Amino acid sequence: MTVRVFLNGQWLAAQDAVVSVMDRGFLFGDGVYEVIPVYSRRPFRLEQHLARLQQSLDGIQLVNPHGVAEWIAIVRQLAGEAEWEDQSIYIQVTRGPMAVRNHAFPKQVTPTVVVLAEPMLTPPDSQREQGIAAVSAADVRWLRCDLKTTSLLANCLLRQMAVAAGCVETVLFRDGFLTEGSASSIFVVKDGVLLAPIKNHLMLPGITYDVVLELAAQHGLLHEVRDITEPETRAADELWMCSSTKEVLPIVTLDGRAVGKSVGAGGTPGPVFGRMYAWYQEFKATVMRNG
Ligand code: PDD
Repeated sequence: MTVRVFLNGQWLAAQDAVVSVMDRGFLFGDGVYEVIPVYSRRPFRLEQHLARLQQSLDGIQLVNPHGVAEWIAIVRQLAGEAEWEDQSIYIQVTRGPMAVRNHAFPKQVTPTVVVLAEPMLTPPDSQREQGIAAVSAADVRWLRCDLKTTSLLANCLLRQMAVAAGCVETVLFRDGFLTEGSASSIFVVKDGVLLAPIKNHLMLPGITYDVVLELAAQHGLLHEVRDITEPETRAADELWMCSSTKEVLPIVTLDGRAVGKSVGAGGTPGPVFGRMYAWYQEFKATVMRNG
């Protein structure tokens, strides 16, 4: 079966979907994107992802080339026909091609729209059962991290620091406070209370972050949304990362030191994580059942 890609209103075989080298997405990273998880061919939190896409487009002053109903139709068509039951759907909208390389926006903008599906690679069970290792770094990104832009070089360099250290994620601190991970939201658990950084221009408003906080509220888990200092993060009982593709994962070592009460080189995922993971799976199953 040929993998089809949506490119500027056309459904094409992946190898035929080509974009100009003069595209501003290619030359400047001038674009925004979304990653939408699909379980059993049903997009998860699609409306929220499309709302965030709108916010990102507004943030870079690019008119949305499609209305919500059109986006839903495109995503549903792809989710229905891709060869995998569980997918991650990638949407990218750039400011399109320009005649000559020029930082200023072209007078006439024709956005480039790409939508494609990839198989959803959920983390291996071992990562959930034994937890993952993370490193930390200074958050050197720009001051509009709330926009999901394709200019991801800083995130890539930061993620690579984790990979180089044999770890999964890089936890970021800016001016002494926790922001997020290189490609995930980060939560802290202290004395049974779930702590989440405040959504602002320094972090992406994560869709999974919202789900985790909703589940905490629904199940009566004490939680606070507030500034979290670096020392508080390092003294956490539990540390989690979450994203659309990783769901929720426990971080058991940070910079080689065990998180929380665990002893030895590796930690053990904490009890609050176990509860949240179960709630998350239950919630997913309900949403998928009810459509
Ligand atoms: N990234 N923060 C950053 C910097 C991210 O890149 C992501 C997700 C998140 C989590 O957001 P959400 O829960 O909406 O997926 C937080 C996606 C998965 C990516 O770039 O592939």
